[in-house]
Amino acid sequence: MDSKAIEVAKTYFIQTFGCQQNENDSEILAGHLEQIGYLPCESPEEADVVLLNTCSIRENADDRFFGHLGRLKPLKQKKPHMFIGVGGCILMQPQNQEKILSSFPYVDLIFGTADLGRFPDLFFKAADQRRTHLGVGPAEGVFSDLPMVRKKAHRALVSIMYGCNNFCTYCIVPYTRGRERSRPKADILREVERAAENGYKEVMLLGQNVNAYGKDMDYRDGDFASLLAEASEIPGLFVVRFMTSHPKDVSDRLIKVIGEKEKVEPHFHLPLQSGSDRVLREMNRRYTSAEYLKIVEKLRKVRPEIALTTDIIVGFPGETEDDFQKTLELVEKARFDAAFTFIYSAREGTPAAERDDQIEREIINDRYRRLTDLQYALSLESNERQIGKTVDVLITGRSETNAEVMSGRTADNRLVHIPLPELSQSPDNAEEYYTNRVVSAEIVAAGSFALEGRLITL
Ligand code: 5AD
Ligand code: SF4
Repeated sequence: MDSKAIEVAKTYFIQTFGCQQNENDSEILAGHLEQIGYLPCESPEEADVVLLNTCSIRENADDRFFGHLGRLKPLKQKKPHMFIGVGGCILMQPQNQEKILSSFPYVDLIFGTADLGRFPDLFFKAADQRRTHLGVGPAEGVFSDLPMVRKKAHRALVSIMYGCNNFCTYCIVPYTRGRERSRPKADILREVERAAENGYKEVMLLGQNVNAYGKDMDYRDGDFASLLAEASEIPGLFVVRFMTSHPKDVSDRLIKVIGEKEKVEPHFHLPLQSGSDRVLREMNRRYTSAEYLKIVEKLRKVRPEIALTTDIIVGFPGETEDDFQKTLELVEKARFDAAFTFIYSAREGTPAAERDDQIEREIINDRYRRLTDLQYALSLESNERQIGKTVDVLITGRSETNAEVMSGRTADNRLVHIPLPELSQSPDNAEEYYTNRVVSAEIVAAGSFALEGRLITL
């Protein structure tokens, strides 16, 4: 027989890089593969089908992907029937498709970010070819009712929209995920309902800019505020989360919903990127530092216990020491409970990458250290304020570093470790028993990144 022997293939392994959106896309890829008879396995070594779902947000994500792909070569030589598919953001760029076609001929399929609906077709087509099949379609359309195997025991990821229209000048996402497209509200709410019926206590509504939900449909199905409000009324949920927001689109209606709906997370992830108005303008962010702080003030007013987290980029081209000082000042004023800090990474094809005033690495490293020192201190203070409180914790699984500890998240998204010595007696049963349960714990200690809790009741 001339085609590859996929008939004997039985197991799959999907490696996902990057954001929650990619994780959710991989859950759909897993759904398709299981529907056509494949079973999950633990490593590429055991797998008949290996998929890499890639991320191109920063340079190191690209490098990691190509590194991983290189390591699959000897495996493929040993097991020629193994199917290798690569998809996601990196593969939306023609230069990367060409790189795979010319330098990684052992790849069977290249697919894009919006090819989830037709993945089985692409898969069978590629399996029948000896050459790499280039199956990247345009970043269009939305998905509903595709098969899905949820990978997280405690969190149902629910995509509410795809793509981004904002074209922040540093960001590759609008090029890899296309324009904003919202899913119909009824489909989203049905998916949330099903997740709750299946025992999920946490739902995360996902999109590159969830605040723009509905805009592309002229708000036929309402806006994000009304979607969030309705989702939070679905019975059985502990918390409804949402990611990611853009400050320019945070409406007063949304702030009101956050103040009124108990199940909406008392946590807001609001990427700041820079505290300097000049840099914000050059980033095309379309808000000022004062407007940003106004949102922070409103959120704290309607929900005083709200935890605020952010993303900050250090070393955007042309960033001066004065600009950077403004970021530090804003961080102090906003008192973020946590922040993801990123070193600027020039992404080919974005306007900022073309600039000739890129910042020297040493200067960036120094600024990065000063920013993280400040934020770690603020995070520690914020976490220390939790000591003595009794909080609900949704257990997410066993701690990665200590087998006698279960980890979980509070509604405001703080990580809590809860020692449970009995775990060592029947580790697997205990893990299964606790995961996805909401327990009550007293916070007894705090660090910059996590809290320690004492189990009170179940
Ligand atoms: N370099 C560094 N950080 C980036 N981000 C997006 N693009 C870049 C880039 N080119 C960060 C932003 C965004 C987060 C998801 O990743 O802070 O909010
Ligand atoms: Fe990128 Fe800006 Fe869109 Fe976020 S809002 S995905 S940072 S372009």
